[in-house]
Amino acid sequence: MPDVIIIGSGIVALTVANRLSKHRNVIIFTKSHTKASNSYYAQGGVAAAVAHNDHWQLHYEDTLRAGSYFNHAKNVKLLTSEAKAYISHLLNSGMNFDRDDADKLCLAMEGGHTKRRIWHAGGDATGKELISFMLEQVRGKVHMVENEMAIDLIMQEGRCLGVKTKNQAGELQHYYASVTILATGGCGQLYAYTSNDQTVTGDGLAMAYRVGAVLTDMEFVQFHPTLLYKNKRTLGLVSEAVRGEGAFLQNEKGERFMKDVHELKDMAPRDVVARAIFAQIQQGERVFLNISQVPNFQKRFPNIHKLCNKHHIQLDKQLIPVIPGFHFMMGGIKTDALGQTSLNGLYAVGEVACTGVHGANRIASNSLLEGIVFGNKVAESILSKQEALQPIYENVTHHQVHKAVNLPIKKELHHMMSEKVGVVRHQQELTAMREWLEQYDFLHADLYGLTNEEIEMINMLTVAWLITTSALVREESIGSHYRSDFPNVKTHSIREEIRRDISETKL
Ligand code: SIN
Repeated sequence: MPDVIIIGSGIVALTVANRLSKHRNVIIFTKSHTKASNSYYAQGGVAAAVAHNDHWQLHYEDTLRAGSYFNHAKNVKLLTSEAKAYISHLLNSGMNFDRDDADKLCLAMEGGHTKRRIWHAGGDATGKELISFMLEQVRGKVHMVENEMAIDLIMQEGRCLGVKTKNQAGELQHYYASVTILATGGCGQLYAYTSNDQTVTGDGLAMAYRVGAVLTDMEFVQFHPTLLYKNKRTLGLVSEAVRGEGAFLQNEKGERFMKDVHELKDMAPRDVVARAIFAQIQQGERVFLNISQVPNFQKRFPNIHKLCNKHHIQLDKQLIPVIPGFHFMMGGIKTDALGQTSLNGLYAVGEVACTGVHGANRIASNSLLEGIVFGNKVAESILSKQEALQPIYENVTHHQVHKAVNLPIKKELHHMMSEKVGVVRHQQELTAMREWLEQYDFLHADLYGLTNEEIEMINMLTVAWLITTSALVREESIGSHYRSDFPNVKTHSIREEIRRDISETKL
């Protein structure tokens, strides 16, 4: 009988579950297996200011600058000031972050950061190491249900009571608990070029929307500048940490185009670099990451090296072909710093949520950090609420008959989103996208007789519609949201308020 239901199996789910498991009965549902998550594939690392020349306030300022000062400053302060304590706790619990020969922590550099503060593990396999470590921590302590897909939230009088799932046998189940936590990540499968896992189809975002939870900032979609690119396909991420170790971008002519774009050049925030690469591609150029100045590339980035070999990229030429692709959703289900959504009993944490920490563009290596810090905060908040101890439990099984539904194939959605709601947007394209989406009746579809793939498509169409509509409404360009018909920023008041806040913060 669960007190707490968690949907998802990435860093958020495992952090919350681990923290609650001593005091609460926790059940985790994942529609695939426990290692199928974006967290598992994270390369770069976790940002936390610990170097002698660093301070959390510098991390705070870098996060705001990268976010175009659109961030929720108070939550950023919480994230950056508590980063060291939570990451050190992981370290002291036995998580192996990379160390140099003198046993000192290795801290990497990534785009938008002004100091080396990225903790990493396994060279470029931080997510894999971290998730494997966390799975060991929760082993035997929480009930983990794999291959069971959450379909809808159960609501009564504005309160979330639990979740409806579809088990491996295709049966519909109802699970009730005091607290339901969405930790389902973002929506990377909306786009053809993506760094995201196959399972990331916006399920939590769509489920929350269907029951009337408030979502916000959905137009802010981050395109990572450097996905490995060959034969018109993206083949995985090439971490920003590679540029942090000296790699630089160039076009086919050998021009280092970032020099003229931003004072931080190749280490500019992601939205800036992604747009600069996009502009090169529009001019007919191919873009490469030149790794000739990265010391000992194979040792420092063993998995990227393996990835390139696997796809027959000739690394003796020191050039890795790259293209921007979907990486992260800054918007999501609106929550406070304790994961509380607009609906009682429903929490959301990590990429599925929007606390406003990332503003209009997330800085590198703040996503695992967000999962760890806010995952702990949510768990602490749940533990502090004694009344949350009365679960209502009922397990109902329904057998469903398959119903026909008119849906596009994934390739069509990929093509449309990439063409119409990509790095650069325009009213005409966005309107065309919305019209295309609205020919499908995804907002009122009856999910219960559908296959998992059909439900995923309905979730993706719902999220695509939310992104497109939000992008249409925001008639300005800020951070990752760039409108060629409205190329300027309008939200000056927000920026000024946060700037003032920074200038009042003393080191
Ligand atoms: C990267 O390694 O470039 C990605 C890390 C992140 O998205 O924070």
